[in-house]
Amino acid sequence: MAKFLVQKSGPLHGEVTISGSKNAVLPILAATLLTKEDCVIMDAPALRDVDVMCRLLESLGASVTTDLENNTVEVNASGQIASEAPYDLVKMMRASILVLGALLHRTGRAVIHLPGGCAIGERPIELHLKGLRALGAYIDEEQLSRGIVDARADHLKGNDIYLDFPSVGATEVIIMAASLAEGTTILENAAQEPEIVDLANFLNKMGARIKGAGTDTIKIEGVEKFSGVSHHVIPDRIEAGTFMVAAAITRGRVLIRNMVPNHLKAVIAKLRECGVEIVMTDEGVLVCGDENPIISTDIKTLPYPGFPTDMQSPFMALLTVSRGPSVVIETVFENRFMHVGEFNRMGANIKTEGKAAIIPGGKQLQGAQVVATDLRAGASVVLAGLVAEGTTEVSQIYHVDRGYENFEEKLRALGANIMRIEE
Ligand code: EPZ
Repeated sequence: MAKFLVQKSGPLHGEVTISGSKNAVLPILAATLLTKEDCVIMDAPALRDVDVMCRLLESLGASVTTDLENNTVEVNASGQIASEAPYDLVKMMRASILVLGALLHRTGRAVIHLPGGCAIGERPIELHLKGLRALGAYIDEEQLSRGIVDARADHLKGNDIYLDFPSVGATEVIIMAASLAEGTTILENAAQEPEIVDLANFLNKMGARIKGAGTDTIKIEGVEKFSGVSHHVIPDRIEAGTFMVAAAITRGRVLIRNMVPNHLKAVIAKLRECGVEIVMTDEGVLVCGDENPIISTDIKTLPYPGFPTDMQSPFMALLTVSRGPSVVIETVFENRFMHVGEFNRMGANIKTEGKAAIIPGGKQLQGAQVVATDLRAGASVVLAGLVAEGTTEVSQIYHVDRGYENFEEKLRALGANIMRIEE
């Protein structure tokens, strides 16, 4: 098992280029099943999850050519497509559920064995299924009680659907299913994340007629057929936010290239509240953690455009060392404080009470042996290790490899003292 060894590092300086978005490329790869023509996906990040999604598409019968050195994936799903997603791949990545709508269209059936809960929560999919039922799919209840989604649909028909919670995955599955259904679908209380917009742009290029992506109401007029397209994936806003925090926590000065500031308004606002100077330049976003003392602020995670849950643990790393107490409230996932125990092993002295974490702040962290409890938490303990006295040893870093391309190389190029050791 690989580990990261992180030593206290001076202020980070230099520039970093952000990779393509994991959470945009995964639904877009699933959507390539909706056409029999070639699709070329560019700026696809070289991540474990992208590799798993490509293997899933291949196992379903698509031909997939990956050239992740050049961040390109080519898919042709003109062959016979299977209905069942293999469990050994689904259990590696819950985002496998994103093929649900596409499989229904291609084969009239979709069988996906659900993985259990994960570190951050139970991850139900009742909203995905509510949407598919509304479009005319039949879901076998007996199979579902055994954790198997077995959906059938000879013909999908547009409908009005309300999401009780603006679920990202449910919005993506419903958009894909509705885009080739007969008639019009109106999706209310839809998720508004930039990754939804990127998926809608990809589908519209294929011939879909989707309006309102990025707002809470999305109108999808079903069409007959999709053509193949090529598409550049948007930059990963969570990777960008992670490197912004890396510059802030080390009191450094880093230019972040290839990020979309508009996708991170809440994070930028909160970093500014902490005293971090953030300057938009033609080259990218300059993050200056060396201008002012870093003071604390309170965070509450919300669906987009609120503060993103995926930035909760990286930002908490900053709050453990910033001056003054702070409160972090996690409203999106029911169990996304697993990293608190790891920060406390480093001396952060954080208390949690239900959805709230109380961070005293102003700590001089000590290096320790810690674990990556999910992919964002793994990145956050690395950030904490950059300012902790001594060595921080991070294990289970396969989580980090799921969501951050060349993470330690990018950090080392900025002056971070981090290395990967294989055990
Ligand atoms: C996506 O997960 C992202 N993953 C997550 O990123 C991200 O944290 C999350 O959206 C929220 O922004 C991908 O895009 C591949 P949800 P998803 O459905 O779609 C509850 C990362 O670090 N819910 O919006 O699974 C659910 O339990 C990952 O890159 C229901 O209750 O998120 C959760 O508490 C982690 N019923 C909340 O909604 C449902 O039917 C948000 O889930 C569906 C969801």
